[in-house]
Amino acid sequence: MDYQQLNTIFSEIPRPFAALYLPALQKNVQDIAVRARNVAIRIASKSVRCRWVLNYVLQQNSQYQGLMTYHPEETLWLSENGFDNLLIGYPFTFYEALKPLILQIKNGKNIVFMVDLPYHLEILNDLGRRYEIKVPICLDLDMSTDFGWIWFGVKRSSIRNLEDLKQRLNLIRTLNFIDLKGIMGYEAQIAGLGEKQPNFLKRLVVPWLKKISVLRLAKHRRTMYEWIQKEGFTLSIVNGGGTGSIEKTLQEPYINEVTVGSGLYSSGLFDMYSDFCHEPSLFFGIEITRNPEPNIYTCAGGGYIASGAIGIEKQPKIFFPHDVQFIKEEGFGEVQTPFYSKNSLKIGDCIFLRHAKAGELCERFNKIFVFDNQTIIDEILTYRGEGKCFL
Ligand SMILES: Cc1ncc(COP(=O)(O)O)c(C=O)c1O
Repeated sequence: MDYQQLNTIFSEIPRPFAALYLPALQKNVQDIAVRARNVAIRIASKSVRCRWVLNYVLQQNSQYQGLMTYHPEETLWLSENGFDNLLIGYPFTFYEALKPLILQIKNGKNIVFMVDLPYHLEILNDLGRRYEIKVPICLDLDMSTDFGWIWFGVKRSSIRNLEDLKQRLNLIRTLNFIDLKGIMGYEAQIAGLGEKQPNFLKRLVVPWLKKISVLRLAKHRRTMYEWIQKEGFTLSIVNGGGTGSIEKTLQEPYINEVTVGSGLYSSGLFDMYSDFCHEPSLFFGIEITRNPEPNIYTCAGGGYIASGAIGIEKQPKIFFPHDVQFIKEEGFGEVQTPFYSKNSLKIGDCIFLRHAKAGELCERFNKIFVFDNQTIIDEILTYRGEGKCFL
């Protein structure tokens, strides 16, 4: 693929637009499966946000089994539209949103709720009692490493140590309408944090912290897992990891599935890892509309900044043409983004960018143009294009 080829393929498409390069997606599907060896892969729907792509990946390779969803209403919508094996990756407490999912389970769907607090367990137990079913749950185990001087991880789950786990297991024993199906430990500081940090100091420290953290969290997870086994619970789900940690997560032999989403589109932040490299497959095109001075080309739009702690790496990444640079003082703007290019660019052509985070681009566009090396082959809808906005 080169810049002129891309401009030709998209010359008739109204701008801005989102585009999915199918050969790259196909390659990522296979490469991720190889990285995961023979272990099942659960797709993180938050990092995809497009039903067509979710379906496509599930059909491409049978190692992809089920989804990790991110909202109860999303889960219901996907379940009603034929998806099954849905693990809701995060706890929710709004009764009315949980209720229809209980009915789906009653009708035979495989849906599992994520929990960590006693409150999460109690509300699901209430629902189970009301609808006379045992509600399948998965315990979210905190995988952060506390170095004392730095909390290396995220603040999500309240189950941080064996004591916390024992308390939850004791509570589960008293709740007649709860069925402990699995555990999940998302090691965000490994899976979601690349080694090639823009900041010099971080570039030195992060790889070192990651190395130690991997060892500690593996020991921690093993202890938790073995305790649960010893207590007589049978786990069908032992989930860990993300795109950034597949190999490391799978060093722990009891892990029976990894969650992967971002690697499928290989968004900007995933250029920062040293031990794998996927192909950028999803990007967006913005039109060069102005040329205020020689070598400066200003486009309409561009400012799709990623969530999380702010930093330069949350800006879009330039995809094509490679030698274009953004202007630091302006960044990527709400309606206008200037770029510097030493080569001459054409008004009316596009600059192609990648979002830093995989799924978030789909919240900006209703449709995605799917293309191969020659031409546009399909137009598909994002969640947003289907009128859905969950988080
Ligand atoms: C619970 C959980 N599991 C797994 C992942 C990994 O997803 P991805 O492969 O898109 O990085 C995430 C991402 O934030 C997550 O929150």
